[in-house]
Amino acid sequence: MSSQSAAAEAQAADNGKQSKQGRARNLAEWSQRPNLPGTHYLDTRVYTDPAIYDEEIDKIWNKVWLPICHESELSAPLDFRTSGVAGTKPIVVVRGADNKIRSFLNVCPHRGNIVMRAPAGNLGEGSPSGNPRNMTCMFHGWQFDATGRCVEIPREKAGYQDRLCKAQMGLRELRTEVAHGGFVWVNLDDNCGPLADFTGNAFDFMATELDTVPLEVFHYQKAVVRTNFKLWHETSREFYHDYLHYHNRATGMLQKGYFDRKYTAFPNGHAATGLTSITYDAYEGAKDRGLTFPGMPLNGWKQLNIFPGCTYSLRASCLRVSVMTPISTDKVLIEIRGFGLKEDTPEERRERILDHDTIWGPFGRNLHEDLLVVQNQSIAMREGSGSKYLVMAREENNTIHDEIGLRSYYEEWSRLMGRLACDPSRRSDE
Ligand code: FES
Ligand SMILES: [Fe+2]
Repeated sequence: MSSQSAAAEAQAADNGKQSKQGRARNLAEWSQRPNLPGTHYLDTRVYTDPAIYDEEIDKIWNKVWLPICHESELSAPLDFRTSGVAGTKPIVVVRGADNKIRSFLNVCPHRGNIVMRAPAGNLGEGSPSGNPRNMTCMFHGWQFDATGRCVEIPREKAGYQDRLCKAQMGLRELRTEVAHGGFVWVNLDDNCGPLADFTGNAFDFMATELDTVPLEVFHYQKAVVRTNFKLWHETSREFYHDYLHYHNRATGMLQKGYFDRKYTAFPNGHAATGLTSITYDAYEGAKDRGLTFPGMPLNGWKQLNIFPGCTYSLRASCLRVSVMTPISTDKVLIEIRGFGLKEDTPEERRERILDHDTIWGPFGRNLHEDLLVVQNQSIAMREGSGSKYLVMAREENNTIHDEIGLRSYYEEWSRLMGRLACDPSRRSDE
């Protein structure tokens, strides 16, 4: 055979292979497990099965430390803030007269009513149904002080004689710590270890930026998003979707060295993307970010994801912290805060707000692009839709488009759930 006809034959064989590999799949092929290690793909039941969701609340959200709000949102003694945690459990966070921040289940021990109904305020201000300085349940007037003790039960002796008294009826207090840039963290498990054991060394690479001077919230927004909580968090965990974001394409992907940015997984499911420099002025209408945080270089960007659903993203002049509360398999409450330094001048603060809102604000570029895909994923994956498996198989030497952040998340998820994410009907210790 001439070398020309051998080449033609090889080419024909190649074409045949490509068309076989590249064609659309029938149902049997679509339903097959990906030919990948179990660590590199997911069964979509982890997003859609109500029993798995209930188990996640029980085994993950009720056990781990969760950031709830920021100390600057409770700056004065007796300031309080209400919120939800771990699948809509109502909580109230209060700064005591002693300046200590405590948190409680916002549920009255009498007949189960919500005690504090306002989103935020100060206990020093009286209300039509409340007594200043105390948290008053409007239903029968029981009162609790800022340390959670029950201090008033109307007609206590007349009704309960010696069978029940105030001392037994306080609010349920939750383990609470303030750390990592002044965030208030709570844990629903009374027997949990300290927060430092949970976060480990994950915050070390952002500690100078977060903990040198006090931070202050300048932006808050929340929304109920129609998606599974993990899908929302995964948009922060994988950077391969840089392609989705016009801002990232214009200011990051095109620059030299962008794909060398390191991606590190830490114990307990946390993961961080290292420092990189961004050409912010490549985005129309934006400019260099010279204003930064302590230790942060001009135009820098670094990001930290905390299991199971919090992201600290620091883009030179502004920090965005995203937290979430799962509501159901396909609904999650997201809360986004923007931060500057407490010592900012009004001009500096204006600049930080503008930078923040360009990408992340209610009309920011990136937020809506992410919201669009996570809600569409949830529609595509709903039970019975025929969606079966997702892949998370990119390995690029622990750099930015490596999916190590997704894999480390599901490694921790499997450890806490005792189930395999690639086949949740199987135990992870089998
Ligand atoms: S339910 Fe709160 S006082 Fe009765
Ligand atoms: Fe995104």
